[in-house]
Amino acid sequence: MTTTSESLETHTTPGEARLLPGAPVADAIFAEVAAAATRLRGRGITPSLATILVGDDDASAGYIGIKQRQAAALGFDSPHVHLPATATQADLHRAIATFNTDPAVHGLLVQYPVPGHLDYDAALQTIDPDKDVDGMHPLNMGRLAVGLPGPLPCTPAGIEALLAHHEIPVAGREVVILGRGATLGRPLAMLLAQKRPTANAAVTVVHTGVPDWARYTRRADILVAAAGVPGIVKPEHVKPGAVVIGAGVRYAGRRLLPDVDEACAEVAGAITPRVGGVGPTTVAMLFRNAVRAAERASQ
Ligand SMILES: NC(=O)c1ccc[n+]([C@@H]2O[C@H](COP(=O)([O-])OP(=O)(O)OC[C@H]3O[C@@H](n4cnc5c(N)ncnc54)[C@H](OP(=O)(O)O)[C@@H]3O)[C@@H](O)[C@H]2O)c1
Repeated sequence: MTTTSESLETHTTPGEARLLPGAPVADAIFAEVAAAATRLRGRGITPSLATILVGDDDASAGYIGIKQRQAAALGFDSPHVHLPATATQADLHRAIATFNTDPAVHGLLVQYPVPGHLDYDAALQTIDPDKDVDGMHPLNMGRLAVGLPGPLPCTPAGIEALLAHHEIPVAGREVVILGRGATLGRPLAMLLAQKRPTANAAVTVVHTGVPDWARYTRRADILVAAAGVPGIVKPEHVKPGAVVIGAGVRYAGRRLLPDVDEACAEVAGAITPRVGGVGPTTVAMLFRNAVRAAERASQ
C-alpha cells in the first residue's frame, strides 16, 4: 500500500506533475452532506440554504442557479430573495434579517458582488454568525483564530480537504501562502497551522511587504497562490517536486486568469489543474457549513 509520504515523493520528476482535481473532493464532501441531510430529514428537519441576489448580473444569477440545483440534489430547501439593482442597504439588511429570524433557515449567503452603491462587508456583519455559510463573518474568523467550532471559510477549508483527499502530507511540512487576503490567505494560514492531522504545518505568509517572496516560495513543500495576480507564480518560484495549489484567479470577462503559470507543472510534483481545482471544493464547503449549521440548530 502506498503511504501518504510516498504519494508525494513518487511524483518529483520534472515534467510529470500529478494533477489534483477538485471534483472528486467535492463529490466526497457532497456524499457526506447528503447522508447528514438524510439523517436530519429522518428527524423531521429539512436543511435549508437561503440565498439573496441583488441586481441582474448574469454570472451571479448563474452561480445562484448552480447552488439551487445542488441544494435540490442534496435534499435541501433553498429559499431565495431577488432584490432589484436599485435596492438600498436597508432593503438588503431587511432581507437578511428575515432569514436570520426564520428558524427553518439554517444557512444564508448574499451572492457577491453586490451593486457598487451597496456595502457587502457591512451586510455580511448583519448575518447571524451561526447561519454564515461563507464562514466570513468576523465572529467566525475569531472562532477560527481561537479554534472554536463554527462555519469555516469555504475556500481555505476546501484547500485543506483537497490536500487530504489527494493524500498530500501537510503535517510538519513547510507551507508558503502567497497572499494575506481576508477571504483566502489569512484564514488558510490559521487553518493549516492548527493542531490536526490534516493541518499542523509550518506556515509562512508572504505578500507585497516581502519583495523577495520568492526566497520563501522556493523552499515550500506546498505553495498556495492566493494573490489574484495572473501568472505571478512562475516555475522559478517553485521548488522541484513541490505541491502547487492555484487558488487566486482573476476574470477578464468570462476568461479565467489563474495566479499559477501553466509552466509550473513542469517543475511541481503535484499541481491543481488550471480549471476545476480549488473551485469545486469551495461550493461543497458551503453545503457542509449549511448542514452542520442545521445539525447544531437542532441539537
Ligand atoms: N478559487 C476560489 O474559489 C476563490 C475563492 C476566494 C478567493 N479566490 C481568489 O483568491 C485571490 C485572493 O483573494 P483575497 O480576497 O484574499 O484577495 P486580496 O484581499 O486582494 O489579497 C490578495 C493578496 O495578495 C497579495 N499580493 C497581491 N499582489 C502581490 C504581489 N505582486 N506580490 C506579493 N503579494 C501580492 C496582497 O498583498 P498585500 O496584502 O500586501 O496587498 C494580498 O495579501 C483572488 O484572486 C480571489 O479571486 C478564489
